Amino acid sequence: MVYIKNIYAQEVLDSRGNPTIQTCITLSNGISASAIVPSGASTGKREALELRDNDQNRYLGKGVLQACNNVNTTIAEALTGLNPFDQSKIDNILLELDGSKNYSNLGANATLGVSMAIARASANALNIPLYRYLGGANALTLPTPMLNIINGGSHADNTVDFQEYMIMPTGFDSFSEGLRASAEIYQVLKKILKDSGHITAIGDEGGFAPNLKNNEEPIEIILKAIQKAGYRPGEQINIALDVASSELIKDGKYYLAGENKTLNSAELVEYYENLVKKYPIVSIEDGLSEDDWDGWRLLTQKLGDKIQLVGDDLFVTNAEILQKGIDQNIANAILIKPNQIGTISQTMQAIRLAQRNNYKCIMSHRSGESEDSFIADFAIALNTGEIKTGSTARSERMAKYNRLLEIEKELTKSEYIGKTLFKKA
Ligand code: PGA
Ligand code: ZN
Repeated sequence: MVYIKNIYAQEVLDSRGNPTIQTCITLSNGISASAIVPSGASTGKREALELRDNDQNRYLGKGVLQACNNVNTTIAEALTGLNPFDQSKIDNILLELDGSKNYSNLGANATLGVSMAIARASANALNIPLYRYLGGANALTLPTPMLNIINGGSHADNTVDFQEYMIMPTGFDSFSEGLRASAEIYQVLKKILKDSGHITAIGDEGGFAPNLKNNEEPIEIILKAIQKAGYRPGEQINIALDVASSELIKDGKYYLAGENKTLNSAELVEYYENLVKKYPIVSIEDGLSEDDWDGWRLLTQKLGDKIQLVGDDLFVTNAEILQKGIDQNIANAILIKPNQIGTISQTMQAIRLAQRNNYKCIMSHRSGESEDSFIADFAIALNTGEIKTGSTARSERMAKYNRLLEIEKELTKSEYIGKTLFKKA
């Protein structure tokens, strides 16, 4: 029987130049695999713990040597000799080994790297792609991407309050056609910004970060770019927002610095209702903060049957918190970030719960990423139907899109469900 022979973690750098963990697994048959974990900036406060050394003499305190050491000692001792194909058992051992609910001892960066690398090594050992290993014969839905083409909030140093303005190529028959349209729109947008005297510097996720006068102007400019590129907004291309509103809270209210406005929850919900009336917006993520469950209830009442309302900081990929949201009729979709919860099995548990309750799932990158394209395979494996992985710039973002293109070619029969994604029953 094949068993886990060696586990080794080392510090590498992510797309922002901060340390993160790369974990390598070698199996007894000589097959090996590695994985790199991502890292967020606008992190939800209920996320699993990302263990940092806090040694100010190294990487301004952001080193991950302690987390690597946890992999190389405690975790390696516990998992060496085990069957790599029993992912849920391995992940459960990691959870028990840590002993806390949020990996505050070993670090979720330590556990997730191991969990990902074991899944990948298992796929390699069976000589099948990662999506096939994780999803079996049912893995065939190419996700509709949400491409973050204008960045604001804590991902960019500009005057735009909302963190992400995304386009979704829903009106196409294939992933590659949708991606092509999006890439064309991105280039046209760059030219429009440049011609109107804006900077075309890009934020962490590859979107532009211009200083625009309010939070609607990015939408107006994007609509112009869509049309100029030859596409029909609202039909072929829709708009999605990630407000990341937990970051906007100041003295218990939402402060839109760019517009110098302070709004309470009800006023912010009304603000969104107006935006949705005016523009082809199909999805709003973290419209209210992670602690504002009353606000979320109101938002869901007002807009839940019109658009997708995504909980990111709200649910933190946590099945237990998602269950509370389901019970209270809050949101209708969940963002899926494996490093918010700490293992692949727990991530899959959140996805299963969402899918059983008709909550949509969006597989997601973090603002700090790497060349690892795990989430591309993972999105297909679990048929999440949607993926959020940045704009069509920066190699750490393109690694995921390019992997999806590769898989689309590989699958003789795949599906792209953009056209029906937001159709009302
Ligand atoms: P983060 O941002 O990775 O910085 O948390 C992504 C998001 O909010 O969706
Ligand atoms: Zn978010």
